[in-house]
Amino acid sequence: MDALFTRLPMAHLEIKQLTKRYGNFVALDHIDLAVEEGEFVVLLGPSGCGKTTLLRAIAGLELQDSGQIVHAGRDISRLSPARRDYGIVFQSYALFPNLNVGANVAYGLNSRTGDRRAARQGITQRVEEMLELVGLPGTESKFPAQLSGGQQQRVALARALATSPDLLLLDEPLSALDAIERVRLRSEIRGLQTRLGVTTIMVTHDQEEALAMADRIVVMKNGQVQQVGQPQEIYRSPGNDFVADFIGRGNLIEATPAGAQHIRAGDLLLRCRIEIDQNRKHRFYVRPEDIRLHNILDDCENSFTAQVLKYEFLGPYSLVTLDAKTGQSRPLVAQFSSNYLDGRPIHPGSILRIGIPAEHLRPMPAAA
Ligand SMILES: Nc1ncnc2c1ncn2[C@@H]1O[C@H](COP(=O)(O)OP(=O)(O)OP(=O)(O)O)[C@@H](O)[C@H]1O
Ligand SMILES: [Mg+2]
Repeated sequence: MDALFTRLPMAHLEIKQLTKRYGNFVALDHIDLAVEEGEFVVLLGPSGCGKTTLLRAIAGLELQDSGQIVHAGRDISRLSPARRDYGIVFQSYALFPNLNVGANVAYGLNSRTGDRRAARQGITQRVEEMLELVGLPGTESKFPAQLSGGQQQRVALARALATSPDLLLLDEPLSALDAIERVRLRSEIRGLQTRLGVTTIMVTHDQEEALAMADRIVVMKNGQVQQVGQPQEIYRSPGNDFVADFIGRGNLIEATPAGAQHIRAGDLLLRCRIEIDQNRKHRFYVRPEDIRLHNILDDCENSFTAQVLKYEFLGPYSLVTLDAKTGQSRPLVAQFSSNYLDGRPIHPGSILRIGIPAEHLRPMPAAA
């Protein structure tokens, strides 16, 4: 009986049934999300799915129609942005072009109280510290136009963190940067976040960025949460077709039962690791990198020959589209290490022997 009244510890940020409409359009549809203290959560989804709207609602820049936001035990649902405790970085650099770097970083630090000189000194010191933290020491007197995109985002990050906010909100902070700078800054941001322990919510539509940075990923579509989980979990066990397709490439295989642990898909008879219900169809998911390449004469379990339809060399790995007579509308896509393919000339029309290890045939829930 007592257990019924035991209150579970509350998450650091709790979003409950949050709904936001623009006219008849539902931008956020009953979003539930709990973020733990110190966690790095990434909102991931296609353009227009509501990521920015959710972030802006957390910041108070957008007012929800219904639902609740609780931060550190305090209901902030109706508080103005100024009374919420967060720092924010936007996609476009959003620095004040007419203010130098020092003034930009100092922007949120005000000197309303006490001895003005001491306060000014405190601000100068804090700005120095923050610029040191983001790897731009001594740049106070430069203007935004004199900085690269990556440097501007570092300044924006310094500005967002200057007030030691309890929550850091990042809306696609890397998307305007070139590929190399993006990868460099993403590891810097993650390193900084871990060091400071600041609870962070970042928006992106880049799957790789989400997988590389997040403690947990929230996959969104049409204003709804599709799945929440650690990167490996989302990648390895997508909860539905949308998540499976959105995070990485994949092959969906619809099959009929063919024995206790066997399925039939087109011409293929495959063993899998689960007990097969003989009375219904089954759906499995195979990641391209889980497909094995064998020697043509090898006779391994779950191996079969397939004809190459398309071959794409992508540097470290190659993508091979195959006609494998799987009975599906889409051909099979396999990914092989390019080193491994050296010395094996592959071109459209080549016949390969490939295999799908039973443990890599992952069951998928029935289509919605
Ligand atoms: N002020 C507004 N008035 C009307 N519709 C809006 C408004 N703001 C956003 N929307 C709509 O709400 C939906 C969600 O927008 P949002 O900006 O949250 O998407 P997003 O996931 O951040 O997309 P992107 O990846 O393109 O930034 C979009 O269809 C958008 O057109
Ligand atoms: Mg957006």
